[in-house]
Amino acid sequence: MLREQICDVCHKMWQLGWVAANDGNVSVKLDDGTFLCTPTGISKSFITPDKLVRIDKDMNVVEGLPGYKASSEIKMHLRCYQEREDVGAVVHAHPPTATGYAVAGKSMDEYSMIETVIAIGSIPLTPYGTPSTYEVPNAIAPYLKEHDVLLLKNHGALTVGADLITAYYRMETLELYAKISLTAHLLGGAKEIPGPQIDKLLDLRENYYHVTGKHPGYKKYDDTAVNNHETEK
Ligand code: 13P
Repeated sequence: MLREQICDVCHKMWQLGWVAANDGNVSVKLDDGTFLCTPTGISKSFITPDKLVRIDKDMNVVEGLPGYKASSEIKMHLRCYQEREDVGAVVHAHPPTATGYAVAGKSMDEYSMIETVIAIGSIPLTPYGTPSTYEVPNAIAPYLKEHDVLLLKNHGALTVGADLITAYYRMETLELYAKISLTAHLLGGAKEIPGPQIDKLLDLRENYYHVTGKHPGYKKYDDTAVNNHETEK
């Protein structure tokens, strides 16, 4: 059932145009402390339950078809589970509008759309990291403490949730909000919700969306440091 659900999410992400070729990866924490994840180098449109790989916390393959290895981004996934006991699933994709913000070096911290404020709060841009290396987990770790949804600079997006559907829905919410935000920008700019109203929306989180993750409140980001980070390397 869980294997089918992971494949369903992969297929949806491909159909939505969030992942080209072999892009994207998904993992879920299992009750025994191992993790089920997508294998590296396979289109999320062709994935089937038997191709998923089960690994332990040290990235050793516990179960998998011969020749199938865990996603090259598994270090990033494992860091999410290490940092947050409440995280049960991690989704990484390149949804084009949200990734546009990540490529432009812009966080998404405007509080202009009610559903997004309630469901995910502000969305930071995390520093640049070379994919598959520990640079990425190290770059995201400080932000994971307060956020369920992150933009990865020059790369894509990462969402976490207590379960897979929650993590996947957060990616949907992110991409829809990115489209709305871009449209508002073309129309002269989003009008922000006043502070006291934001507080009321944040109070609704638990009942409205069953938000069990972190509660970042309303937090503004100065992207300058993150954008300088790359040139400093
Ligand atoms: P994997 O095929 O190794 O999961 O990598 C895909 C990807 O999106 C890298 O950022």
